[in-house]
Amino acid sequence: MKRICTLAFVAALLVGCAVAAFAEKLEIPESVTMSPKQFAGYTAKKGDVEFNHASHMQIACADCHHTVTDSYTFQGCMSEGCHDNIAIKPEPSSVYRTFHSTKDTTKSCVGCHRKVKRDGSGDAPIACKSCHTK
Ligand code: HEC
Ligand code: HEC
Ligand code: HEC
Repeated sequence: MKRICTLAFVAALLVGCAVAAFAEKLEIPESVTMSPKQFAGYTAKKGDVEFNHASHMQIACADCHHTVTDSYTFQGCMSEGCHDNIAIKPEPSSVYRTFHSTKDTTKSCVGCHRKVKRDGSGDAPIACKSCHTK
């Protein structure tokens, strides 16, 4: 079972296995405040986002934490060298594009939410205020 779990984790990063594998070492946050305050000199256009991590646990970790298969580390999306470009540019490093792109439907907040709405499979919010609450 352990072997199966490990293989499955490597192959598909099944949610259950990931939790089992990381439960002891890793603290999985209930919710996370996401903010552009880390970017010196940048004035936020919208309020901070309180991301309800717990309510998204039906989704595979690696769908969002897409670098996990390479590094097995979980880090902030806007860490240096990742999505750290606060200028609104059509590059993968763009903070805006990362969370609002409608072309990506697995990682992008708005991209997935739109798809969920379209499918009729849930009521995932797309209005600015529903995410930018703080
Ligand atoms: C729907 C997308 C999504 C899914 C699915 C998801 N996470 Fe996250 N996770 C996030 C976001 C967004 C953050 C906040 C990152 C930030 O602060 O920039 C986060 C933060 C974390 C953090 C804290 C990282 C840090 O440096 O603060 C850990 C640990 C974590 N997640 C583990 C997991 C594990 C384990 C799973 C699967 C059981 C999982 N996540 C599933 C989106 C997701
Ligand atoms: C792969 C799909 C997916 C991704 C990526 C995703 N979500 Fe969601 N989100 C959902 C679904 C599904 C629901 C629940 C809809 C329902 O309850 O019917 C939801 C619900 C929500 C809600 C309202 C209910 C609650 O749990 O608070 C907020 C706010 C939210 N998401 C924010 C975010 C943010 C911020 C991100 C990006 C950091 C994100 N989501 C990424 C699928 C996704
Ligand atoms: C499903 C969640 C979600 C929705 C809906 C959403 N955003 Fe965001 N947005 C985020 C996340 C996550 C970030 C990155 C964290 C942050 O900057 O607070 C972000 C960052 C931003 C930023 C860069 C930071 C800043 O505040 O200047 C802007 C601008 C922005 N969003 C505008 C919008 C606008 C305009 C809308 C509505 C058309 C919108 N967002 C809807 C999740 C969302």
